[in-house]
Amino acid sequence: RGKRAFIAGVADDNGYGWAIAKSLAAAGAQILVGTWVPALNIFETCLRRGKFDESHLLPDGSLMNITKVYPLDAVYDTPEDVPKDVKSNRRYAGSSKWTIKEVAESVKEDFGSIDILVHSLANGPEVTKPLLETSRYGYLAAVSSSSYSFVSLLKHFVPLMNPGGASISLTYLASERMIPGYGGGMSSVKAALESDTKVLAFEAGRRHRIRVNTISAGPLRSRAAKAIGFVDMMIDYSLMNAPLQKELSAEEVGNAAAFLASPLASAITGTVLYVDNGLNAMGIGV
Ligand code: NAI
Repeated sequence: RGKRAFIAGVADDNGYGWAIAKSLAAAGAQILVGTWVPALNIFETCLRRGKFDESHLLPDGSLMNITKVYPLDAVYDTPEDVPKDVKSNRRYAGSSKWTIKEVAESVKEDFGSIDILVHSLANGPEVTKPLLETSRYGYLAAVSSSSYSFVSLLKHFVPLMNPGGASISLTYLASERMIPGYGGGMSSVKAALESDTKVLAFEAGRRHRIRVNTISAGPLRSRAAKAIGFVDMMIDYSLMNAPLQKELSAEEVGNAAAFLASPLASAITGTVLYVDNGLNAMGIGV
């Protein structure tokens, strides 16, 4: 049978999550997505009204089918973790079973198992502030939603992942090189994610034969990136300075994810794969 993928962090057709879903669908995988609860309504409405119809088109002319959309808030592991004001919030009260543990249980109930887990989400409330001006709250909130969320997702999905399965997250060069403008602890968040990739590759590899890799992606005009505000500058910088002088398409990252999730990558785990037109190789701008 074909493989089944759960992709956390899809709420429109602009981001890396959508592109990864398409590349996996083009390779024959069944697609399940996890959508941030506050974004769920508008995402489902857009899907229903056909706003993303053109974006569903796969290279062979067929259309991507999203088998099921699950509400998800990756900041909460279990219902007991959810504060009262969030529970009663208008945007959350309309959905249920959106903590990580419950989503994993629902997927298990609906489909039994998955083969591929993708983490394509991040949130840093103080991303526009320099690290020196970042509050403890902002820093820890960024780590919670962008790094620990991956640890927790893997922890809860591992029991339903078939041996030989693969998980993938998205990281950014700011983890290892100073990139002014990527603040609020988001650089720290990506450093944690990359380090955790190695530790989790060992643990999930030994215990469950599951591979864990992360893609260090170049700049893309996604919703999240536009919120940071400096993405156009980063795209221009890359065009000027990267070995490959072309704009990076989300599809190129999607295709790399499909490769990493496939048997072609069966010996690859614990790695950071750069999909950035080679910008990471440069020491100085030219
Ligand atoms: P995006 O806006 O398409 O994706 C981020 C998603 O995270 C959104 O769908 C949002 O609803 C979701 N999200 C936020 N908080 C959440 C939570 N608590 N629970 C569940 N979902 C939550 O933007 P993009 O840029 O495609 O981001 C995907 C990944 O790619 C992120 O990890 C990002 O850091 C990474 N990345 C992005 C780059 C870029 O230039 N766009 C460059 C390198 C990495």
